[in-house]
Amino acid sequence: MANIAIIGLGAMGQALTARFLQQGHTVTVWNRTPGKGASLVARGAREARSAADAIAASDVTVMCVLDYSATDSIINDAAPTLSGRALINLTNGTPAQARATAELVATLDADYLDGGIMATPPMIGGEHALILYSGSKAAFDAHAETLEGLGAANYLGEDAGLASLHDLALLSGMYGLFAGFFHATALVDSEGIPASGFLTLLRNWMTAMLGELAGYAEKIDSGEHGVNVVSNLGMQTASLENILTATREQGVAADLLNPMLDLFRKRAGSGFGDEDISGVFELIRRQRGK
Ligand SMILES: NC(=O)c1ccc[n+]([C@@H]2O[C@H](COP(=O)([O-])OP(=O)(O)OC[C@H]3O[C@@H](n4cnc5c(N)ncnc54)[C@H](OP(=O)(O)O)[C@@H]3O)[C@@H](O)[C@H]2O)c1
Repeated sequence: MANIAIIGLGAMGQALTARFLQQGHTVTVWNRTPGKGASLVARGAREARSAADAIAASDVTVMCVLDYSATDSIINDAAPTLSGRALINLTNGTPAQARATAELVATLDADYLDGGIMATPPMIGGEHALILYSGSKAAFDAHAETLEGLGAANYLGEDAGLASLHDLALLSGMYGLFAGFFHATALVDSEGIPASGFLTLLRNWMTAMLGELAGYAEKIDSGEHGVNVVSNLGMQTASLENILTATREQGVAADLLNPMLDLFRKRAGSGFGDEDISGVFELIRRQRGK
């Protein structure tokens, strides 16, 4: 059993603590605003007076606060105590923020592991919880078994920014899916069809379309978008134009799909209409050397 400090008792920090307690670990908690640990203390957690006290009482520290500005200020306040210890930061942020915090922690002679939680608080410890990690391999290896208790632990590499990069990329995919759902549902809603009545058709269609992704991934990796094209960009641009015309006719706002049509037209208008729509990726990817 591990001896863990939890810094931050928001909705997520409380869920992490509850899970560690349930698994029989020793947990010392600290939160900026006192009192939030009461129910956890009742279940066996110890409450420290400062972040430094919690860190000092434990073998490993798991931090989960609002943002990296909070993270860095807590690290600076507890700096001397962190020396020689491992800090696992599950706060959500950008790759650049994770890398900057990793550098800060390195100056304190401590081990830094960054994490991205792909779960809501009630999911922690459940079969669908996933947490992405990157940074110190030594810290991950030393605590992997404990971390697995929170959810599947996926280590992505020594670059501390990789967990955040993958976290934000996965969320981007989710928001794209939600955008398609909202637009499609607004179209049928314009004729009084309820979202719940349309859901099965839409879900089956979206599930079938997931099968296209492997082919797009191959084309993106090879940079060759003109091979094995069944539904080319020119045809799909005309189809997207129809969707946006119908959108206007039905009195639905086109905000979610207009940017996609702009990209389709730009790529097709540059002579790539015979290729696959995966070619649109070339318009948004980071350009080499930048
Ligand atoms: N909730 C989710 O569904 C979810 C899912 C995945 C990832 N996350 C990530 O997990 C992190 C925590 O989320 P949460 O849901 O626990 O948020 P939350 O309920 O809003 O709690 C925020 C926590 O951050 C602390 N905090 C804020 N500013 C601080 C500062 N300057 N110094 C010290 N502590 C500070 C708060 O302390 P006080 O109590 O003193 O205000 C509180 O403990 C976020 O980065 C979030 O993006 C959340």
